[in-house]
Amino acid sequence: IDMFTNEFRKGYIMVNGFSMPVGYRDFAERIENFEVKDDDIWICSFPKTGTTWTQEMIWNIVNNLNFEGAKVPLAERFPFLEFSALFDYRSLKAAPPEKEFNQSVANSVEFVKDKPSPRFIKCHLPFCLLPRQIRTGEKKPKIIYVARNPKDTCISYYHHCQLLEGYRGNFDDFCRLFLGNKLNYTPYWDHILDFWKQKAHLNILFLKYEYMKADLPAVIKKSAAFLDKTLSEDQVKTLAEHLNFANMKVNPAVNYEHVIARNKKSFNIEGSFIRSGEIGQWKDRMSDSIIQEFNRLTEEKFSDYNLIF
Ligand code: A3P
Repeated sequence: IDMFTNEFRKGYIMVNGFSMPVGYRDFAERIENFEVKDDDIWICSFPKTGTTWTQEMIWNIVNNLNFEGAKVPLAERFPFLEFSALFDYRSLKAAPPEKEFNQSVANSVEFVKDKPSPRFIKCHLPFCLLPRQIRTGEKKPKIIYVARNPKDTCISYYHHCQLLEGYRGNFDDFCRLFLGNKLNYTPYWDHILDFWKQKAHLNILFLKYEYMKADLPAVIKKSAAFLDKTLSEDQVKTLAEHLNFANMKVNPAVNYEHVIARNKKSFNIEGSFIRSGEIGQWKDRMSDSIIQEFNRLTEEKFSDYNLIF
């Protein structure tokens, strides 16, 4: 379908210093004026930092480990606010009749709006583009922000763009797009920093992918406390098992296998959304000069804020 064969990075736009897909324009006003509810649960992140993993964790904590209910695709349980902006959604008429997927793609903002409370909302928007009611503190939903090491995020984004956005260039060039803020939602550093700086004012739980890898049960407990839930040790163990990489990889409710299957065909490429789940792959993949540039930017942007990856 057309929406998957758009030429890579054709027509991205800069909005408040962030790179956004051109389709964002059509939704900007609706997002700005989106009516937020105090009992909403938002997951905000830069892409590829462990959003899906965090969504599945949070949804299950709030829903008391309802693994039966968790068989519904995550994109319906925990929809993506600005999803429509990422595609040429007008071409969807030609798309196959996959009802929920198409509904959420065609007008994701409407789709999210009509969900019953508590609404679970995923978004990758930078803080400055969140709905006004959140930015001003008029509404105080719970926000979980997840962040990940910049170099690992870049590698994961590279595979994502090959699989989902038709990127055909080489890895070094992709790193330059990342460093040069030419990918959706970049600059990565400012995305993270802007949320980090809001921690004191808003209801934000700040998580890191690396902590989830190191001690998922501890992160589950911390998240549960943030959500005013108490889980028994057994429940924590069961949830951690449900969320482990091997289980998530084969879980059709969270691994986007249907979307991926279609892309594999149109892009003639192999891969999976839940890909490798590792830390430190950059050591084998990135050239010294690219590593240096990542380190320089990280030092420049994060060192004053005690943000360490
Ligand atoms: P990799 O490409 O490095 O494997 P997002 O959901 O924000 O798009 O993030 C995707 C990244 O999270 C991918 O990273 C994916 O493999 C990883 N991921 C998803 N589920 C995971 C899990 N249960 N454990 C570890 N990593 C996971």
